[in-house]
Amino acid sequence: MANKKSIHGEWSSRFAYILAATGSAVGLGNIWKFPYITGENGGGAFVIVYLACIVAIGIPIMIAESMMGRRGRQSPINTLETLSTEANANKNWHYLGWMGVSAGVLILSYYSVIAGWASAYVFKAIFGGFSSDAIVVKATFDDLLASPIQLVFWHTAFMVATMSVVMRGVNGGLEKAVRFFMPVLFALLVLLVGYAMTTGEAYFKGVRFLFSPDFSEIDSDAVLTAMGHAFFTLGLGMGAIMVYGSYLPKNVSIAKTSLYIAGADTVVALLAGIAIFPLVFANGLEPSAGPGLIFQSLPIAFGNMTGGWLFGILFFVLLVFAALTSAISLIEPLVAWLVENKGFTRTKASIVSGLCTWTLGVSVALSFNVWSGFKIFDKTIFDLLDYLTANLMLPIGGLCIAIFSGWIMHKKHVSAELDLPGFQFKVWGILIRYIAPGAVFLVLLDVIGVI
Ligand code: TRP
Repeated sequence: MANKKSIHGEWSSRFAYILAATGSAVGLGNIWKFPYITGENGGGAFVIVYLACIVAIGIPIMIAESMMGRRGRQSPINTLETLSTEANANKNWHYLGWMGVSAGVLILSYYSVIAGWASAYVFKAIFGGFSSDAIVVKATFDDLLASPIQLVFWHTAFMVATMSVVMRGVNGGLEKAVRFFMPVLFALLVLLVGYAMTTGEAYFKGVRFLFSPDFSEIDSDAVLTAMGHAFFTLGLGMGAIMVYGSYLPKNVSIAKTSLYIAGADTVVALLAGIAIFPLVFANGLEPSAGPGLIFQSLPIAFGNMTGGWLFGILFFVLLVFAALTSAISLIEPLVAWLVENKGFTRTKASIVSGLCTWTLGVSVALSFNVWSGFKIFDKTIFDLLDYLTANLMLPIGGLCIAIFSGWIMHKKHVSAELDLPGFQFKVWGILIRYIAPGAVFLVLLDVIGVI
């Protein structure tokens, strides 16, 4: 079984896989979410907890999840069924695949709405340019959020774009797009960091905010948010990297590629933080402004700098592409399952899963305006979906993945797949059996108030 290929195709090379998986990892999570949750949770201490979660939980689980995918070679649901048979384990493990597929749909439903904001900003950048006045910039953002028509329109456009890439399958288009856009996005972020340095005192204030920890700012909910974000930003815990792993050629080192991907993802997030917080301080904005943070701070920089018109357009275009390459991985587990188990063509599977996600996304778009008063557990639909998926479903999914690969799968199968030197395999073994599941479990217990 271990040599079987996926029916959906295979990455053309190791590099193609790294690009696709980095494309999945780097997205709105790095550039939109990381800065605003860092701002909401007081800065430096939160960043340290987040980095610790990436190293101790994220990387080991990333290795585990892609390893399971490559061994199972199918959608997460069927992969879990195959692997539990191979390990003589309980078949109920395939429900983990179902939780992942649902998490993917739920995440994409709001991810697409936010990617819609970024798309709207591409057009704002082209046709209006940006103002250098913080008040005008904030009003522009508030106007966008207040308009259900605009939000639904851009959400629809983004979903159509996503599903038309997904239809083409793993090698068509996706690989090529990532190869070009990722380096340009990176260069642009470096340029923005360069601009942030020109803000003088504010630059140091921003960097201090990000890197000098004050642990009194951290409570158990902040730790949960940091841990949940480690899963979110690496794209773990719901089968996305599992399904990408299932398209991975046999001879590629899973551990090494996981390290590259996690490294690139972390660098992009930190660069985004270094670019944004100086602007926040230079313009008297609040770091805790919430989901609108980058939309209220970056345009000011574009409004001020020479060539800002062009850079502004380029930046938001790249942000939309980064979101697109992430969105694809969120829906791929469901599409793969529909093809495998329902006999759908890829096109039909894409349309059906896209429509479900779109419908849910409309309610997210409305939760920013006409339905903003509708709250469950004191959260709007957007807040609720974000909390439910990033803070609960992904960590629980990751916990189960750690347990499955560390305790249920036979060691000989795992080590055949990972092919690591003895010492490294031991280190990973300790992380995946004890450290990662232990940490996730403790944080979850803490949040529900048991400890
Ligand atoms: N990692 C992406 C980001 O940071 C989002 C994403 C893509 C994701 N695939 C995922 C999140 C799977 C959770 C699970 O924007």
